[in-house]
Amino acid sequence: MNQNELNQNPWDEIAQYYGERTSKGGDFLRRYLIYPYVETAIDRYITPGSMVLNIGCGPGNLDNEIAGLGGNIVGVDYSHKMLQAYRSRLNGASNSAFPLQANAEGALPFEENAFQLSLQIMLLNSLSRLDYIGSETGRVLAPGGSVLLAVAHPDSIHRYKNLIINGNPRRGNYIWNTNEGAPVETPFFLWDQSDYETAFTASGLQLKATYEPLLDISQSHLIGTEMSAQDFEEHLRVPSVLIMEFQKPL
Ligand SMILES: C[S@@+](CC[C@H](N)C(=O)[O-])C[C@H]1O[C@@H](n2cnc3c(N)ncnc32)[C@H](O)[C@@H]1O
Repeated sequence: MNQNELNQNPWDEIAQYYGERTSKGGDFLRRYLIYPYVETAIDRYITPGSMVLNIGCGPGNLDNEIAGLGGNIVGVDYSHKMLQAYRSRLNGASNSAFPLQANAEGALPFEENAFQLSLQIMLLNSLSRLDYIGSETGRVLAPGGSVLLAVAHPDSIHRYKNLIINGNPRRGNYIWNTNEGAPVETPFFLWDQSDYETAFTASGLQLKATYEPLLDISQSHLIGTEMSAQDFEEHLRVPSVLIMEFQKPL
């Protein structure tokens, strides 16, 4: 990706909107389906001094928490506006969280065995190829280190209402209606579960856990949101997110 492409990044256009929408508690998907699992895992994995690589960090919704556990974080994103939002979100964690602009579809600028944990939360559906992220994650994780990823569940993609899958079944666009100006489209790639497994195990990582969270709250929590009763019912039965954990052998 050259500088021109980086400058035309649609994620820049929605960075502010995205930061507001997904800040903790603001976004249904993260609050009820993704973060409960990720926060438990973070508690398990991070000890003071742990090195954490948050790839596709966006505004860094969890990074203050990670810093609070004593972790040192590198937040990687190719959108410089997302990284601006990330910097402004750091409350007292600015000595232990370092935003860095880099492309996850290429070599990562880190030495091997440098990190104990890599978070990749809702990143991989934005990538047009998974081979680099799989091999680079395997390279930069220390033996015993883990990667925790969350993606749109490949079997229930119909749940994502703002997603348009084009002629090519693997490629689409997610439409962001920000209420300011024209809608913004970010690229979306529909990978199968086996694609994730292939990409990460190719570098020697081992699949440790697969988790398909279902909603377990009462509908009253969703008053004031745009979710219909039918959608809510489906969320009790059909997972819309897939979470996977891989580990680098000792
Ligand atoms: C759906 S957001 C997820 C942000 C954050 N992880 C979260 O859960 O809120 C996807 C993020 O990945 C970033 N991203 C997309 N493609 C990327 C790439 N090739 N390299 C680095 N970051 C990328 C975007 O800029 C955006 O911040």
